[in-house]
Amino acid sequence: MNITYFGHSCFGVEVNGKHILFDPFISSNEMAKNIDEATVRADYILISHGHFDHIADAVSVAKRTGAKVVCSWEIHEWLNKKGVSNTHPMNVGGKWKFDFGNVKCVSAVHSSGLPDGTYGGNPMGFIVESDKSNFYYAGDTALTYDMKLIGEYRQIDFAFLPIGDNFTMGVDNAIIASQFINCKKIIGMHYDTFGFIKIDKEDAVQKFDMAGNELILFNIGEEKSI
Ligand code: NI
Ligand code: MN
Repeated sequence: MNITYFGHSCFGVEVNGKHILFDPFISSNEMAKNIDEATVRADYILISHGHFDHIADAVSVAKRTGAKVVCSWEIHEWLNKKGVSNTHPMNVGGKWKFDFGNVKCVSAVHSSGLPDGTYGGNPMGFIVESDKSNFYYAGDTALTYDMKLIGEYRQIDFAFLPIGDNFTMGVDNAIIASQFINCKKIIGMHYDTFGFIKIDKEDAVQKFDMAGNELILFNIGEEKSI
């Protein structure tokens, strides 16, 4: 699968010819200033929760591309009020079949207020299942024992996990999370963007390696086939 990194927790993943964009936060991310948000492709936008650093460009990308936005009920209502009508509301535990594959929403231990103070519902992670492979996008979350259910539910071929600490789990807990979900190939996210989440990347890669897992870190704008 082709994966492109747009900074922070924003990734584009191509699944069965469809471009799925996760947690769009580009135009106001100083680290992603070389990315032109107007060129980012999306057939679907999956939003894990309502915080600014996950939703900042959702309205503009959705309006430009016409992409279907998959998110919590509360974020769906908020987007509708902002003129984004192509939305698909879901909630934790639910699964839906889209034309590229299935999306199952799983729990995330975090919070989810929208930028204007509106309640955003529960934060979520996503399992994307397709005939090519299955992957888990954790969103912002702490390490939680619920992740064991993900490993029991499906074979997870690769996973996006936050590793920046302070607001989410950090490297040590993300290594335990990768064991819980039984997945050896981890793509790191939610690090280095702000002062609170700056990490030692070399040390992180080494720690994962010592635990027998692979931590894959993208440069912003980089595309990899995974
Ligand atoms: Ni957050
Ligand atoms: Mn965040």
